Amino acid sequence: NEGALWGGRFAAGPADALAALSKSTHFDWRLARYDIAGSKAHAKVLHSAGLLDEQELTDMLAALEQLDQDVQSGAYVAAESDEDVHGSLERGLLERAGEQLGGKLRAGRSRNDQIATLGRMFLRDHARLIAAGVIETIDALIMQAEAHPNAAMPGRTHLQHAQPVLLSHHLLAHAWPLLRNVQRFMDWDKRAAVSPYGSGALAGSSLGLNPEAVAADLGFDSACHNSIDGTAARDVFAEFAWVAAQIGVDLSRISEEIIFWATKEASFITLHDAYSTGSSIMPQKKNPDVAELARGKAGRLIGDLTGLLATLKGLPLAYNRDLQEDKEPVFDAADTLELLLPAVSGMIATLTFHTERMAELAPQGFALATDVAEWLVRQGVPFRVAHELSGEAVQKAEAKGGDLWDLTDEEFAEISEHLTPQVRGVLTTEGSLNSRSAQGGTAPSAVAQQLQELKKQLEQA
Ligand code: ARG
Repeated sequence: NEGALWGGRFAAGPADALAALSKSTHFDWRLARYDIAGSKAHAKVLHSAGLLDEQELTDMLAALEQLDQDVQSGAYVAAESDEDVHGSLERGLLERAGEQLGGKLRAGRSRNDQIATLGRMFLRDHARLIAAGVIETIDALIMQAEAHPNAAMPGRTHLQHAQPVLLSHHLLAHAWPLLRNVQRFMDWDKRAAVSPYGSGALAGSSLGLNPEAVAADLGFDSACHNSIDGTAARDVFAEFAWVAAQIGVDLSRISEEIIFWATKEASFITLHDAYSTGSSIMPQKKNPDVAELARGKAGRLIGDLTGLLATLKGLPLAYNRDLQEDKEPVFDAADTLELLLPAVSGMIATLTFHTERMAELAPQGFALATDVAEWLVRQGVPFRVAHELSGEAVQKAEAKGGDLWDLTDEEFAEISEHLTPQVRGVLTTEGSLNSRSAQGGTAPSAVAQQLQELKKQLEQA
């Protein structure tokens, strides 16, 4: 079994079915360059521990560098017989450094601490890439919010008209959860920046190697404090998968709204041609496929997370081969978001909003009823009563087939002496919006402050 990392105690080689089942090069090969970086760091601590002399270290690093270049150029690829990335790269090293020197590198390390470390390196890099894509999406939302500072729209609960809100307020309501996801990745990175290298198979190394030196060399903040934990835990992977799934869910929620806004019935937006698709039979169709794919991929991202958690559940300490199943879900989560985010941010950045249509609908559906109730409260009426009176006004208007502003002064007076003609002051979208000026409210002044705070937090992200 040429290139295998084990075999001494076996009289027979692996069955073809086992080899096929065991093999992971088709998905772990993308960790090859991280593996080589780990090997270089490991060679240096072998040298510091007196296990490689000066010349051996120089030759080892040169061979690893050559291997890295060959991997990068595609001149070196995994062979059919290679079980995993680690075994394949050892074969590649032996070819470049010779059996004598190449055979020394594996001392004091195991694939168990290697793979746990490489996974973290990969995820740390991809968390940064994904966060950059999320920030672009936030920027697109901010750009649209700033382009429509005074546009009103129907704010909804239960998908029913509830109260008028600013379009910018609504758009930024999608930006905040995305920002929290960026912040989550930043916080996650503190836990991911701990290197399992040096944990060995599970119990640590007897060879006097310095895990902190390897950790620093590979860009980690520190080395693990428990070698069993270092090789067995995958909570850092699961947490990555959760943040990825949460991003998927948040993009899906924006997308669902975009799909609705683009319907003929809503007619709130027009999608840019570059971010919509046609139909093979219906010539008129212009479909929101980007948003639909985003909604669909959220399901996939949730699957990546739950699949990984299901793999981890019930695993005894320390390493178990089940853990080989940790990689595909997180790789898929990273690939999915890296594919999705540019499309979603581009779709958002190029949306055309039909602000007149949105403004026209903003106060409809009795969306100013709360304003009437709160106006009554300002006249000294207890809210319980005010709520009833405003509700009666809604009933009256509905019976007339109109909205609140269609009631006459007499009709208002019939409901209550408190409903004087002055109530008309709050029966406009503008009045309703402007009145909600406390922090977090939808008044233009409050949204301007909100935007400043969002940008401040974004700068720190
Ligand atoms: N390919 C393995 C994985 O992805 C590497 C570790 C294998 N260790 C072992 N003792 N078989 O988890």
